Amino acid sequence: MTATLIDGKAFAAKVRAKVAEEVTRVKAAGVTPGLAVVLVGEDPASAVYVRNKGKQTVEVGMESFEHKLPAETSEADLLALIAKLNADPAVHGILCQLPVPDHIDADKVLDAIDPAKDVDGFHISNVGLLGTGQKAMVPCTPLGCLMMLRVHHGSLSGLNAVVVGRSNIVGKPMAQLLLRDSATVTIAHSRTKEIEALCRTADIVVAAVGRPEMVTGDWIKPGATVIDVGINRIDAGVKDDGSPRTKLVGDCHFDSCAEVAGAITPVPGGVGPMTIACLLANTLTACCRANGLDEPEGLTA
Ligand code: GUN
Repeated sequence: MTATLIDGKAFAAKVRAKVAEEVTRVKAAGVTPGLAVVLVGEDPASAVYVRNKGKQTVEVGMESFEHKLPAETSEADLLALIAKLNADPAVHGILCQLPVPDHIDADKVLDAIDPAKDVDGFHISNVGLLGTGQKAMVPCTPLGCLMMLRVHHGSLSGLNAVVVGRSNIVGKPMAQLLLRDSATVTIAHSRTKEIEALCRTADIVVAAVGRPEMVTGDWIKPGATVIDVGINRIDAGVKDDGSPRTKLVGDCHFDSCAEVAGAITPVPGGVGPMTIACLLANTLTACCRANGLDEPEGLTA
């Protein structure tokens, strides 16, 4: 391997330490930042995420409010809870864990969250603010990628970036953030022609498609930076006891990309840990904005 490893775990620890330091400052001004997380149903992966979010929220000195609702909860009841959280001055950030059960319209719920408390950055107002270069709440995963890229490159100005994937949660906001930092940005997707050759023009490749190991070393320009947002669980043979073995891989084929890239994020331990760290950063930012306090430097876009 020739690429430098971008250690998201270490990076996230630094972000959390900075958030904790700033939480102390904000508390001294009389406010405790609070994050409310709403989980509807019993999806096991979501339950793990929510537990981790709650734990890390408390570890940085913030208040954590968890609302676990049964899968049968009606859309009206969920909207009523969101309205209550919107009106609660102790709550500065609200996150409704996705996916929600099929009988609930996720867009309706996301758009019911007060944009100032929308720490996911999914509300249509925040999408519009980001797209027009105004002060917004920015989705956590792309924000984490941006923070790592800024530290690694210093300036992104004039660099060619290809974002592979056009989701509302990662691909599109990632492209907006790179553009805001004056990179030249292309979004590639399943219909893109000659995607390999396109990626080979990039100084930065961000892969966010949810397809295991799709991006291989021959897609990468020598020395380029590869940010792998994918988290895919794939089969990896059988264990000694005959049970199936699985492993986590990204959207990039790590070994071949790492032979060519200048820097690369691993999976696990790359982008993943940055997502919750940025959620904490967004909660702190929302709290500062709501209370007219100075925003911490280096924790926002
Ligand atoms: N489910 C998986 N990731 C996320 C996330 O970042 N935000 C929300 N709200 N739900 C998720």
